[in-house]
Amino acid sequence: MNSDVEVSSGISSVEAANTLVEPQWCDDDFVRQYAEAETSTRNAFELNYNTLSVYNLIPGDARRVLDYGCGNGYFTEMLAKGGGIDAYGYDISPVMREIARDRDIAVLEEKDLSSVEKFDCIVLKLVLHYIDDLDSFIRQVGNYVKPGGTIVISIPNPHRTAAQYEKPYNTTFTYENELGGNFGLNCTMIHRPLSEIARIFREGGFLPTQMEELVDEERGVLPKRINIQFKQLLVE
Ligand SMILES: C[S@@+](CC[C@H](N)C(=O)[O-])C[C@H]1O[C@@H](n2cnc3c(N)ncnc32)[C@H](O)[C@@H]1O
Repeated sequence: MNSDVEVSSGISSVEAANTLVEPQWCDDDFVRQYAEAETSTRNAFELNYNTLSVYNLIPGDARRVLDYGCGNGYFTEMLAKGGGIDAYGYDISPVMREIARDRDIAVLEEKDLSSVEKFDCIVLKLVLHYIDDLDSFIRQVGNYVKPGGTIVISIPNPHRTAAQYEKPYNTTFTYENELGGNFGLNCTMIHRPLSEIARIFREGGFLPTQMEELVDEERGVLPKRINIQFKQLLVE
């Protein structure tokens, strides 16, 4: 993380998968409550609109797709049932992985990630704002992508978080927010400007190729989600 920005040193993080992860995702009770809220009517915008936007950013010819940070596995299941895709889920939380397996989808263990065949596309849907060392994380996840493959991300719009917390947009800072806006579960998240995210992907070997800015009209005029497709740079 840059030294001239407000950093997240206040978070007590635990080390996992060579990244630092926000501790709530290692709290089994928290994870179970989140897994239940994730596919409830409280998450209607995510389920009805954002999933479709993310789905549309997955290249049409992608066959092996990994939903990384899959939560309860609903999006992995959507991919698997859509046809033509071999969908896999992975989540850092062992409890979440077990919950996802109830859907009868393929859920990988951490040790599998580096041993199975690489993926045409990896989806990181609502995961990046929990990752402290995002540079290391993207380099690591990039290793699981086939040459010339794709990463699709979905993040909360950082323009909204800067305005909501009255912080300078062009800084990296942590904030406390309620998951889903109405799940009754608070969590620490990390704001990064889009230019910082673009830098991290570029240095990890990926360039942006498509972007969607999805507005939730019930939650104001600014887009709620920023969804970006990145392609791996092929170096000769
Ligand atoms: C807000 S949920 C999003 C779940 C799902 N992708 C969705 O869009 O509904 C964030 C998920 O990322 C997982 N997660 C957090 N840090 C992770 C990491 N370093 N590696 C893999 N999964 C992680 C959490 O356990 C949690 O299930």
